[in-house]
Amino acid sequence: MIIGVGADLVEIERIKDAVDKNINFLKKYFSSEEIDYFDSKNLNPETIAANFAAKEAVSKAFGTGVRNFELRDIEVLRNKIGKPYVVVHDKAKELKEELEIKNILVSLSHTDDYAIAYAVCEK
Ligand SMILES: CC(C)(COP(=O)(O)OP(=O)(O)OC[C@H]1O[C@@H](n2cnc3c(N)ncnc32)[C@H](O)[C@@H]1OP(=O)(O)O)[C@@H](O)C(=O)NCCC(=O)NCCS
Repeated sequence: MIIGVGADLVEIERIKDAVDKNINFLKKYFSSEEIDYFDSKNLNPETIAANFAAKEAVSKAFGTGVRNFELRDIEVLRNKIGKPYVVVHDKAKELKEELEIKNILVSLSHTDDYAIAYAVCEK
């Protein structure tokens, strides 16, 4: 049963600026496995922006926004054929358990200017 949906749209230029200007930006918001994936894509800002959007979309699907957990606690990875999937940690994991969420599904897309993500939470 679906208990939450979330969407988020991110301007790619803003993410590109953040990555260029702040050496700590990636480490603040993304796990080492996410950063490895970005590296494999030559730090393509579209991919980084889509991952960022996915984290915010999941926070909306929780119904809380980014509250009482860190965006870094929501990890957005890829399976062997490129499909994104979500792994939650720490406070976000606690919230997932509290809300009795079994599955978190995401879908990502990007153009030159924007990245978008949708998230669905299933009980
Ligand atoms: C809710 C939140 C994810 C919105 O993200 P944003 O990038 O600021 O704004 P967006 O345009 O993407 O989304 C705004 C929409 O999110 C929706 N939204 C607001 N609170 C929400 C919640 N608790 N759960 C799900 N969706 C929510 C609303 O529809 C809102 O649009 P509206 O104000 O026109 O009704 C974000 O503001 C947030 O996490 N806030 C809570 C904690 C906080 O204030 N943290 C400081 C910033 S980290």
